[in-house]
Amino acid sequence: MPGEPKRLDHPKIVLLIAFVFIIITLAVLGAVLYHLTFSHHGPAILVPFQKKMEEKKRSAILEDVKRQEEYEKHRHFHNVVEYPTLPGKELTVCFICHSDYPHSKNKKVRALLNMHTQFFVCETCHIQEKKGYEIVYKWYNPLEKEPKGPFFGTSYDPETGNLVPVKDQFSRIAPYFKSGDTLLSAIQHQESDLAQDYMRVRDQLTPVQRENVKKKFHVSTKPKGHECKVCHSKKGLLDFRKLGFAENRIVDLEQLNIAGMITKYEKFYIPNLFK
Ligand code: HEC
Ligand code: HEC
Ligand code: HEC
Repeated sequence: MPGEPKRLDHPKIVLLIAFVFIIITLAVLGAVLYHLTFSHHGPAILVPFQKKMEEKKRSAILEDVKRQEEYEKHRHFHNVVEYPTLPGKELTVCFICHSDYPHSKNKKVRALLNMHTQFFVCETCHIQEKKGYEIVYKWYNPLEKEPKGPFFGTSYDPETGNLVPVKDQFSRIAPYFKSGDTLLSAIQHQESDLAQDYMRVRDQLTPVQRENVKKKFHVSTKPKGHECKVCHSKKGLLDFRKLGFAENRIVDLEQLNIAGMITKYEKFYIPNLFK
């Protein structure tokens, strides 16, 4: 009745019973909702939506994790490899836009290609040849003018069979244009400020604008790098002896039989990579 004060002193047991009923009602409601939306026994109204959300998540985070895993597994093969990073300003401009794991498209080889950036600069595989110049390869260290080595991966420890660990973590094999007696570095030192700026605003650019910036930074870059057998063969691209590799290491690098290696790697080091 209006005006009459509400009764507030219900016996405790009534509250308890009401509580139990509310819980039961909620549980039933929950079960019905689940049945209608996600359960495999019902019409599963929201399952497609759920799948879509999961797909979105997978493409970003899980892909990255997977890549990391592939890399990690490979790293165990060497046992000795630390993956140091250079101070930001010493990194070549490619890293600003492409990160340490630039290869993503070709699932079969991306982890292996990314692994190679531990001891190569990008240009070693991606540089456009120039008419009138021979390309030669040397160890390059951004922090040291004439690095002496010993360099990463060049020899085995006869006792353990592992690669000999080295102190020099930053030297990489890099290409030089040679004309007569002069060597000209083929590393493309470009405006890193501009690259950083591009990364900040790229979402606001139109596809055409993006394409234009991209072109500016890829003038001497070949879209596809060298294939495996360009280097992993006798008389390959690199003069392994000149680069300081030990004889037994050279034999292994030259004879890396790709077909055989892929099965070997799949079995022992990178399960599922080649599926
Ligand atoms: C300003 C940012 C930026 C810089 C700096 C940059 N790239 Fe790129 N690069 C891109 C973008 C954007 C793409 C297109 C990616 C895509 O289509 O998925 C690309 C694509 C590529 C491709 C694939 C082929 C192609 O043309 O699509 C290669 C190879 C490549 N870059 C190598 C390099 C190398 C080597 C360097 C350093 C010399 C470098 N990039 C510097 C932004 C950059
Ligand atoms: C060992 C040689 C090698 C090195 C070193 C190398 N690349 Fe590549 N790169 C390749 C090959 C081969 C392809 C083509 C892969 C394919 O699609 O089959 C490629 C393709 C690419 C692509 C396009 C395809 C993709 O996977 O996204 C980009 C971008 C790229 N490279 C960037 C770089 C950058 C940046 C560096 C330096 C950090 C680098 N590469 C170093 C060999 C190399
Ligand atoms: C530009 C030359 C070059 C290209 C192209 C290249 N490699 Fe290599 N690769 C090397 C060199 C040099 C090393 C050893 C570097 C070191 O240990 O310092 C190496 C190391 C390796 C190793 C590790 C071997 C070991 O015993 O540690 C594997 C595996 C490998 N390459 C596979 C490949 C595959 C697969 C491709 C093609 C997708 C490829 N390489 C393309 C030059 C190259």
